[in-house]
Amino acid sequence: MTSESPRLHGSTGPPPSRVADHLDGLSVQLSRMAADIRDGSLSLGAGSQERHKVLRAAKEVIELIRQPHEIFAEWLSVLTPMAATRLFIEWRVFENIPVDDTISYAHLASKVDVQQSILNANLIPRVVRLAWNLLPAGILKQVGEDRITHTPKSQLYMTRNPITGMICHMFDNSIPSLMYLPKFFETYGRREPTDRLNTVSAISHGLPGKTVWEIMTETGTMANFALAMSVEKGASWPNLGSYDIDWAVKSGAMEENKDRAILVDVGGGKGHAVEAILEVTPGLDPARCVLEDIPEIIDTAKASAGPVIAGIQFVATDFHAEQPVKGAFVYYIRRCLHDYGDDDCVNILTRLADAMKSDTRLLIVEAVQNNPPSTFAAAMDMLMISIGGKERTLEGFRSITSRAGLEILEVYTQPGVEGAVIECAKKST
Ligand SMILES: C[S@@+](CC[C@H](N)C(=O)[O-])C[C@H]1O[C@@H](n2cnc3c(N)ncnc32)[C@H](O)[C@@H]1O
Repeated sequence: MTSESPRLHGSTGPPPSRVADHLDGLSVQLSRMAADIRDGSLSLGAGSQERHKVLRAAKEVIELIRQPHEIFAEWLSVLTPMAATRLFIEWRVFENIPVDDTISYAHLASKVDVQQSILNANLIPRVVRLAWNLLPAGILKQVGEDRITHTPKSQLYMTRNPITGMICHMFDNSIPSLMYLPKFFETYGRREPTDRLNTVSAISHGLPGKTVWEIMTETGTMANFALAMSVEKGASWPNLGSYDIDWAVKSGAMEENKDRAILVDVGGGKGHAVEAILEVTPGLDPARCVLEDIPEIIDTAKASAGPVIAGIQFVATDFHAEQPVKGAFVYYIRRCLHDYGDDDCVNILTRLADAMKSDTRLLIVEAVQNNPPSTFAAAMDMLMISIGGKERTLEGFRSITSRAGLEILEVYTQPGVEGAVIECAKKST
């Protein structure tokens, strides 16, 4: 075909010859990747960044070939398996499929429908129809016409874990807020939502004036959120990344500093970051690490603490108010500032600056947005709109830290990792 022949994407798409050239380039790239996988120089492990290169290359092939109108079918085919998965988690369907065997749809339906009569004539079709949405995504596998079996993917959903927590959180909180955006902007005007009490999420839930945390507590979705937050223990989100906290451990060991906390994780959730930091930092005394969060989360964190963090201090706080732990060596705030607009962030940071000494360092762990951002960073930003927060560029972080009397000393990044560690100190006066 020449460039004059009919175009693959209609009149606006690239000519077929260019698509073919691009595919040639991608096939060379993919063959090289395949060779690297074989010789072990490219890892497909969960935390591997090279894996994202393979995913991107695969996606590029789809983008080249897909017709513009097909995107609608693709969006639907992402949403419907999500709905089916959400329901199957709640109904414990995944747990009721035997791990090394098949089960008939009828038997499965009779095992899981605890709320409704087993004799309900609609029961079997409902389970089958939902399960059918999970076949194309490779989540479940059908055997013959009436039996189903697990795949490695569906086995992940058999227990309550960070991935099931994230699916439920996305489905129960994030997606409804996104769907409400048109109504929100129509009602309140086309401006950036920054009010943490009257967020898109609050209004869509019919709970104006409540924080997103109060809403999750009230709607019973907080446990899933807390679980979800530990989903990427360091993969796309570093805990410390390449930042070396050893200076604080050594300074804290000195006689005149024995009363100072070494690490305070502000808004640290269930303590997964403190746990990961303790695991990689020899000499860091758990008793001098503090986990701060709202009372409900601190209660859960204490109750579920594993051996690594059992000896840390658990302190219920409000990071919009005075910081109770003064003069620590390192304050650490991870994935919290993107939940708020600039003025709230400046307040949170000012509270921390007030508690800091001149040698204290504040580590902000957040995505630092590029222009244009990655797909994931742009999607996160959209989610943040619904709770009055936002993702920020480095300039955005410079602005809010500077307004709080802080200066950025260094930004620690890792290739291919979204999150960065932004090291700050009090501005010298
Ligand atoms: C997005 S999560 C981040 C959790 C954790 N730092 C991480 O990186 O996974 C935000 C955390 O801030 C906590 N939080 C919300 N409002 C708070 C407040 N007023 N004071 C202290 N913590 C708060 C939430 O409970 C939640 O654990």
